[in-house]
Amino acid sequence: MRCLITAGPTREHLDPVRFLSNGSSGKTGYALAAAAAGRGWHVDLVSGPVALQVPVGVTVHRVISAAEMFAACQLHFASCDLFIAVAAVADYRPREVAKEKKKKAGGPVSLELVPTVDILKTLAATRRGGQIIVGFAAETNEVETNARRKLHEKRLDWIVANDVSRVEIGMNADDNAVVLLGRDGARVAFGPASKADVAEFILRHVAPA
Ligand code: CTP
Repeated sequence: MRCLITAGPTREHLDPVRFLSNGSSGKTGYALAAAAAGRGWHVDLVSGPVALQVPVGVTVHRVISAAEMFAACQLHFASCDLFIAVAAVADYRPREVAKEKKKKAGGPVSLELVPTVDILKTLAATRRGGQIIVGFAAETNEVETNARRKLHEKRLDWIVANDVSRVEIGMNADDNAVVLLGRDGARVAFGPASKADVAEFILRHVAPA
């Protein structure tokens, strides 16, 4: 079994020292990588910048931007049996990246942003038979409705609906509560539980032994 996982945030630089990003810690993606490696699977983990130890038995590919994350995933997607996209990929990047540090201007400034590639949607559109594709949906409202829309729009087998409006669990925390939605209409809720237990729950359902 070959497994490809994305994790953590991406950074979209506007100059050498400043970037757009988000507060993803990478904990859920790394917990999934650890759980998959624990089953003896080959695991390629494409990781944005996070402060976490790489789990034993996992091959990590470190990236910064969405474009780099996409390029790294392209190298491993065709040969994987299971793709789990956990990364909180920045949806936009600055159109211009300054070579030198930008100086402050007197008044307000505006930043022109252009969309990044949707890694999960683009790769899922090239899927071959037999591949299992799992996405995450980070939502603050109408969590399951929005997640189910992404499940179909991105042509996934499963999506993990993650309510990120809660402070004590979810993004950046050690625990999470999720709802796993399947293309066939399945709905299974799990947690609150540790991210390690959430990872085991997800693998048990999406790739039963
Ligand atoms: N994703 C991705 N590439 C992107 C954006 C998202 O691979 N450029 C993946 C995420 O890893 C996740 C899923 O798509 O598995 C959904 O991500 P999410 O941020 O919840 O939704 P978006 O598709 O970005 O939509 P929106 O921001 O409008 O909610």
